[in-house]
This record gives sequence, structure tokens and C-alpha cells, in this order.
Amino acid sequence: MHNILLKSLVLRRPVFTHNFRWKAYYQHKYDPKVEDVINKQIQAEQQAAQDYLAIATMFLHPCMSRPGAGGYFMKMYNEELEHMQKLIEYQLIRGGAIVISGLKAPTMDNKLTLQSAFKKGLSMEKSVTELLENVVAVAEKVDDYQCADFITSVYLAEQMSSINELSHHVTNMDRLCGDEHAVYQYDQHLLKSYPNPFKFKMPER
Ligand SMILES: [Fe+2]
Repeated sequence: MHNILLKSLVLRRPVFTHNFRWKAYYQHKYDPKVEDVINKQIQAEQQAAQDYLAIATMFLHPCMSRPGAGGYFMKMYNEELEHMQKLIEYQLIRGGAIVISGLKAPTMDNKLTLQSAFKKGLSMEKSVTELLENVVAVAEKVDDYQCADFITSVYLAEQMSSINELSHHVTNMDRLCGDEHAVYQYDQHLLKSYPNPFKFKMPER
């Protein structure tokens, strides 16, 4: 008797399969295609965060010593983490299953400069924007107006600001033509807005 009761309780647990997921009582017209593409976006945002972290820590290293650029790319890292977390929250609200995937190791470029880093950031933001546009396209195809609106109004709007911001930095870097003193001044200027977020100090005796 006890076993039968236990079995029936187990069978009533939410079933995450493609056949049953969209019919789940806790979802409202949440198509598996949208659920999957949101999971891909969660991974893309996490990958972007990881890539920005790699750039930031290279600039913060004493052998490179560009603290302003380090602070700026740490800000970008934190923004991507926020994007990822917001999408996880969204997936939870829609009753989707969250898939946390493995990430690719970022390539560490020993010849990294402010110019190459801003260009890389710009191309990353454009790639992420294309993925977000694809989320909107998938959502619109299955009449998920809410998801299409959420991604368009919250995410795509922010992407346009990031692309614009990074484009300004690329233009300015191109103008400086790699002049060491000018790049130093630019980095010091960045430092005022984006201070190094790492506060660790060696304990004093
Ligand atoms: Fe993002």
C-alpha cells in the first residue's frame, strides 16, 4: 500500500520531456522551442561574462597595468552576469527547465591592447545581439508575444547602448594610433568612471 502511494506521488512530479512540457499546469503557452532558445541565450550571456573577465584580468595584471580598462571590462563582466541571471529568472517564471552548460575557455591574447579589446567587445556584443534577435524570431513564430516583447524592450535596447558605447571607444582608440602616452591618459580617464573593483589588500602587521 505504502509503495503504491509513493509511486503515485512520484508519477505526479513535473515531467520535463518535450511531449509533456508545454502542457504543464505551471506554464502558459510556453513552447519548447522558446524554452530551448532561452537556455542557449543563458549560455551565451555566461560565455560573454567569462570572455570579459579574461580581458579585464589581463588589463589588471601588473605586467599590463591598464587599471581603467580593467575596471571597464569588469563592469562589462558584471553586466553579462546580470543578463544571465535575469534570463534564469525569466525561465523560472515561465516554468521552463534551466540548462546550465559548460563554457569555452577564453583565448588569452598576450598582445592585447585597449584598441583590440574594444574591437573584440564590439564584435561580441554584435554576436550576442544576433542571438537575441533569433530569440525574438523564434518567440514570434509561435505567437509568444510576451517573450518577444521582453527580449526586445529589455535586452535589445541595452545591446544598442553597449554597441554604441564600444563604438565610441573604438573610434577614439583608432584616433590615438597606439601612442603610448595618449593611451595611458585614456586609461586614466576610464579609471575615474570604472575604478578597479578588487579591494583586496595584503594584511599589515
Ligand atoms: Fe548581455
